[in-house]
Amino acid sequence: QRLDTLITNATVITAADRFVADIGIRDGRIVALGEGLAEGAGPVGETIDASGLWVMPGGIDAHCHLAQPLGDGAVMADDFASGTRSAAAGGTTTVIPFAAQFKGQSLRAAVEDYHRESDGKAMIDYAFHMIVTDPNQTVLREELPALIEEGYSSFKIYLTYDDLKLNDREVLEVLALARREGAMVMVHAENADCIAYLTELLEAQGHTAPRYHAEAHSSIAEREATHRAISLAELIDVPLLIVHVSGPQAIEQIRWAQSRGLRVYGETCPQYLMLTADDLDQDGFEGAKCVCSPPPRDPAAQQAVWEALESGVFQVFSSDHAPFRYEDDKGKKLHGEEASFSCIPNGIPGLETRLAILFSEGVVKQRIDATRFVALTATNPAKIYGLYPRKGTIAVGSDADLTLWDPEARVTVRNDDLHHAVDYTPYEGLELTGRVVMALCRGQVVARDGKPCGQAGDGQFLRCDKPTPARPRGQAKGF
Ligand code: URP
Ligand code: ZN
Ligand code: ZN
Ligand code: ZN
Repeated sequence: QRLDTLITNATVITAADRFVADIGIRDGRIVALGEGLAEGAGPVGETIDASGLWVMPGGIDAHCHLAQPLGDGAVMADDFASGTRSAAAGGTTTVIPFAAQFKGQSLRAAVEDYHRESDGKAMIDYAFHMIVTDPNQTVLREELPALIEEGYSSFKIYLTYDDLKLNDREVLEVLALARREGAMVMVHAENADCIAYLTELLEAQGHTAPRYHAEAHSSIAEREATHRAISLAELIDVPLLIVHVSGPQAIEQIRWAQSRGLRVYGETCPQYLMLTADDLDQDGFEGAKCVCSPPPRDPAAQQAVWEALESGVFQVFSSDHAPFRYEDDKGKKLHGEEASFSCIPNGIPGLETRLAILFSEGVVKQRIDATRFVALTATNPAKIYGLYPRKGTIAVGSDADLTLWDPEARVTVRNDDLHHAVDYTPYEGLELTGRVVMALCRGQVVARDGKPCGQAGDGQFLRCDKPTPARPRGQAKGF
């Protein structure tokens, strides 16, 4: 049978192996992997010579926010079209953004809202995590079990933000539900009362500049909430994933839990490697560009995050892309420059730069090896969120989601060259080594030389299986 695409002489890198091989693709899937596939392959649609290139699984960005309205009226710059276009350009071929419930809303209605929002727009494949903000009896007894069964097998909960947070009792209820139904729970771990207290104190002293965001969101508040979330999950005996971990205090809690055999997973993001709280302290209001929660900390925290990536405390590396424009079309800032830090929408853009940053700063600088890079950016998220082995690896039968890397290319990050709808990148001017020269999603080329070339609507919605890593300790292992 004819191959649609044959990639030859690829240095294939998976989470486990590195080998030179040809990759045969038919109907969007990898159907052959081996030496000398060209001989005897018969007619081939397209042959791509990958000599000198590294071929890795397409990136999976398992934490990004697209078209998600905020409680205070702030709107995200990226919808599913611009967000997935930008992701593709950077080598990401699957995204898992959020379908967020607002309090009082049915969870089913929230999921339907995000489907309406994404239908026909995505350039790459996508699944949804839910955000559960209102775990009432209907949600717990009817909606969540049904939705988990239908392919929404992960959800995020918050311990902070007034319009999102759950109290400990509610956390216990949703954790118990996740245990019963086999869902993966992600938690935003910051102590809401600590942050509110510090925010009021700072604002009363007139300390309203962007840099005070980092003081209000203390690492102690992150540590406490991380420990509490772990304890609640241990009490229920259910796995848990702590998202966007910023530094050593929370890392210690996760490592402690893991050392005691608990299935606690960790995620971190580029901002915790590349930025510090000093980046919030810039001329004028510029620091607002680096406001996210938890905030970036200091160089020692960056070092701790690298070590946790290297040693396996973290399984997932995501962007937490939360796209807000710095200025509107008239050059006006969202709440004006005199607005307090507590009014700045939290989150920074990063879908397109995530892979290049970890490749350059991690693999090229030899802080992590290439197989770890693949595990963190593709294989582990696929396993943890129930998409493996369809996504996240290079194997016969898997989707042909591939990135072809020139490991030596030099690139300077410029927002002008990015494809999101945000008017800045926090990484402007950053010089990187390594570039995705081609990305394929189910065998279709979706990016070439940093430019997207797929079509909106080509991306498919993915139903997620109940993830093996979400099984409680009482059941069979397998991760
Ligand atoms: O500041 C952040 N991280 N904003 C995005 C929303 C979230 O909590 O992940
Ligand atoms: Zn969060
Ligand atoms: Zn987020
Ligand atoms: Zn405001």
